[in-house]
Amino acid sequence: MKFVAEKLVKTFPGVRALDGASLVLEPGSVHAMLGENGAGKSTLIKIVTGVYQPDGGRLLVDDGAGGLTETRFARPQDAQRAGIGVVHQERNLIPEFSVAENIALQAVPTRRGFVDRAAMRALARRCLDQLDVRLDVDQAVGSLSVAQMQLVEIAKALAVDSTVLLLDEPTASLTGDEADRLFTVVRRLRDQGHSVVLVSHKLEEVFAVADTVTILRDGRSVAEAHPLADYSRQEIVNLMVGRAHADLALQSRRVDTDATPALELQEVSTAMGHRDVSLRVQPGAILGLYGLVGAGRSELVRAVLGLETITSGVIRVHGKPARIRNVGDALRRYRMGYVTENRKEEGVFLDQPISRNVAVTVWQRIARAGVVRDRDERSLVEIYRERLGMRIAAPGQLAGQLSGGNQQKVSLAKWLAADCDILVIDEPTVGIDVRTKAAFHELILGLADTRIAILLISSDLPEMITLADRITVMSEYRIVGELDNDHDYQATSQAVMSMIHAGTAA
Ligand SMILES: Nc1ncnc2c1ncn2[C@@H]1O[C@H](COP(=O)(O)OP(=O)(O)OP(=O)(O)O)[C@@H](O)[C@H]1O
Ligand SMILES: [Mg+2]
Repeated sequence: MKFVAEKLVKTFPGVRALDGASLVLEPGSVHAMLGENGAGKSTLIKIVTGVYQPDGGRLLVDDGAGGLTETRFARPQDAQRAGIGVVHQERNLIPEFSVAENIALQAVPTRRGFVDRAAMRALARRCLDQLDVRLDVDQAVGSLSVAQMQLVEIAKALAVDSTVLLLDEPTASLTGDEADRLFTVVRRLRDQGHSVVLVSHKLEEVFAVADTVTILRDGRSVAEAHPLADYSRQEIVNLMVGRAHADLALQSRRVDTDATPALELQEVSTAMGHRDVSLRVQPGAILGLYGLVGAGRSELVRAVLGLETITSGVIRVHGKPARIRNVGDALRRYRMGYVTENRKEEGVFLDQPISRNVAVTVWQRIARAGVVRDRDERSLVEIYRERLGMRIAAPGQLAGQLSGGNQQKVSLAKWLAADCDILVIDEPTVGIDVRTKAAFHELILGLADTRIAILLISSDLPEMITLADRITVMSEYRIVGELDNDHDYQATSQAVMSMIHAGTAA
């Protein structure tokens, strides 16, 4: 189905999110939509799927006779009925419902007026099978990991038979393998005549799967439905940022490996299933914890932070045994900060102003006579707005109104402001645009240079190879190998993958 969004305008208080952006979709194509954080990508998708109403512009669909006819989607259901399916950037799952119920939500099979539970579970299994995902469909969604939830969200979009499928950063928390399986499905849909829109900050996957590209900058389309093959990676990036953009030059850093580790795990086992995990992070060092999604990395750091049960082993902070009770305790007693991958639930208070979010970890420091002044909170935001290039209307704006990438910046700013000795950072650049990603990387390297010990979890192998001094590889809740990182992409990625495969086979 041919579909056109023409000269869309959308204004929020203080922000013009879209300012004449257009999107043209041809049947049988994979179309990339690119742009920096806050460029307007998600807003455009929400207009096309009836979540928001545009202030200007129009939507045109195939009239079935070779022409186009104007249409209007007053509600998401209208867009769905017109054959438009979507995976939004933020999760829309019901945690108390089972995997099967969530997947079948918009396409509930019924028999004689009753929900056909067997058919519902079969549908869910079929959708998950397409993605080669093994999950118990009767399990409650609330108990899944972030990556698993994302896969369920994609399966849910596949459950509805749509001719246009919009994917807003679908692979943000997936591994390369999982993303590849998604793209196999995407190519199949294209070959069957569907059009698929892919929003992504990962240019490698965009070049691997997309045919055409639309680039948004400040709410306008600066490239419209252009063949992707005409552009180099550099040209795409320059169009996105509106000027020439230089990548980060890599330098080798020196780490004092004899120093007492700031954080050390000694044969730690957990109730989640980790067995005898040992690792050490020296002050000023970046230890990368790599593994496939489901390897148990996030669960391990959650156990260290007291959020899961440790059954044996010792955790030491600066050489002394530590018993951390929770995230607040980690900060107060051990000066340890935790940037979670799960920013929606744990990282950012969406119904609070940005300034409150950034200041929440530093209240003790900036509180005078027990009161935190608005002015102090706001000036704190100004510092990080500049350093992280946050795109916000005002420090008092609610965090929930920010674009996904800008929420992620708020989550990191909060911990940077806290002045920690040890930072545990889980997937720092998921959903972050290229320009800011380089800035984040520089910032993380800069933090290590100030002697902060950093434990970094990332499923983005290039990122790991850029940042880590040493890489520890985890598979199935055990450490399966460790290596010094010489920042050679080819060699390191091969070494890491063979550790994972050897570890899994054992
Ligand atoms: N509900 C809202 N209320 C107020 N402002 C909003 C709202 N939704 C989006 N915005 C603003 O509109 C602009 C565009 O946001 P949008 O989410 O479309 O960006 P994006 O291109 O998807 O970015 P990202 O890559 O970070 O996801 C941003 O400045 C954002 O703060
Ligand atoms: Mg977005």
